[in-house]
Amino acid sequence: MTNSELAVNGGSKVRAEPMPYRRLFGAEELDIVRRVFEESWQAGVDFSFQGKFEELYTSRFCEFQGGGFADAVCSGTAAVYLALKALDIPTGSDVIVSPITDPGCIAPIVLLGYKVRVADACPDSWSIGPSEFERAQTPNTRAAILTHTGGYPFDIQPILEIARSKGIRVVEDCSQAHGALYRGKRVGRFGDVAAFSTMFSKNHATGGCGGVVYTEDEEIYWRLRALADRGKPFHRPDFNPKDPSQFLFPALNFNLDELSCAIGYSTLARLPDTIEKRNAIAAKIDAALERSAVVSPCIRLEGCTPSPFFHTVAVDSGGLTVSKVEFAEAVGAEGIAINPDYRYIASEWPWLKPYLTGEADTPNAVRFRDRSFNILFNERYTDGEVRDIVDAIIKVESHLAKRVSRAV
Ligand SMILES: Cc1ncc(COP(=O)(O)O)c(C=O)c1O
Repeated sequence: MTNSELAVNGGSKVRAEPMPYRRLFGAEELDIVRRVFEESWQAGVDFSFQGKFEELYTSRFCEFQGGGFADAVCSGTAAVYLALKALDIPTGSDVIVSPITDPGCIAPIVLLGYKVRVADACPDSWSIGPSEFERAQTPNTRAAILTHTGGYPFDIQPILEIARSKGIRVVEDCSQAHGALYRGKRVGRFGDVAAFSTMFSKNHATGGCGGVVYTEDEEIYWRLRALADRGKPFHRPDFNPKDPSQFLFPALNFNLDELSCAIGYSTLARLPDTIEKRNAIAAKIDAALERSAVVSPCIRLEGCTPSPFFHTVAVDSGGLTVSKVEFAEAVGAEGIAINPDYRYIASEWPWLKPYLTGEADTPNAVRFRDRSFNILFNERYTDGEVRDIVDAIIKVESHLAKRVSRAV
């Protein structure tokens, strides 16, 4: 196997058949969607939003988190926007962000009239650490939106201590880390408010597009509810939705509809199983990398149970005859689902530059990206897929490594 021509050069692939289809939305989700329709037909009222299924979904979400208040919204980007808006910091403030995140985590900062301050990652990691957080602060910093990147919690406790001592509010972006545990507690329960994307590809999803905004602070919750639905004062006992003169302020409509909430209610029941399976697969990949001379597991923060979204592995690029990207692309060509070159480093996005404050230099994040690639996987992967992933790496390194792989 190791001597055959690389697939990238026209040889046969290690993995000829497609990787397993995740199929998150299955028969159970179809059943519950049918229920939404059937119950609305029986009631003689078309289904809409903020109904029984949102109540079921957000209650299950809070139960899963271990308390708190949740509102289902139409996207993760909307959830971040609402989370930050709810904190009501002064216009023009600086907001710290993680070095590696999605544009949907950062665009709301700009749209709300704040400046973006990009922090660096800890060495050999995608995640922000306490000293990087400290370095990113300016006298004008009022908030931070920090991402648990790739499903791996960042070291939030010491960061929170610094933030609280300086009056900096913290939004956790849990869009890639649903259900991950940091020191035994679910992510999203540490900061002032948390945002989750629940789009189709996430570890937990409500359908094609969706999100959740979550907090343990009841006052923030009611403000979120109003911000997410045209300023409605849901907290008032005399609230009359048909009397817009009661509304509190101008706000958009970010509601998630009943169909998506029903899907979320159903898939959320499987999240613990998803997390367990994904961790087991990630651990098997890491163990099997023992065979590789060039690719190795990444260093991870202790005291956490991640909810792996993708699996990053480190590449000893000095041991290669080609670039890391060429190496990773050759692994991908063997039929393995990977992202050879993670481009989600905020400091590298030209469109963001006019909205940044201070230096946007994140050398640790760039260095880590330039010596790693992401294995994309899902909870249906078996030992067969783990074997193919590592066989592909071994095959490629037998061609492209300076020294011969130990396994050959
Ligand atoms: C960390 C992070 N934040 C925010 C978002 C935005 O979420 P959405 O695509 O649901 O708007 C995403 C995902 O796409 C994400 O990964």
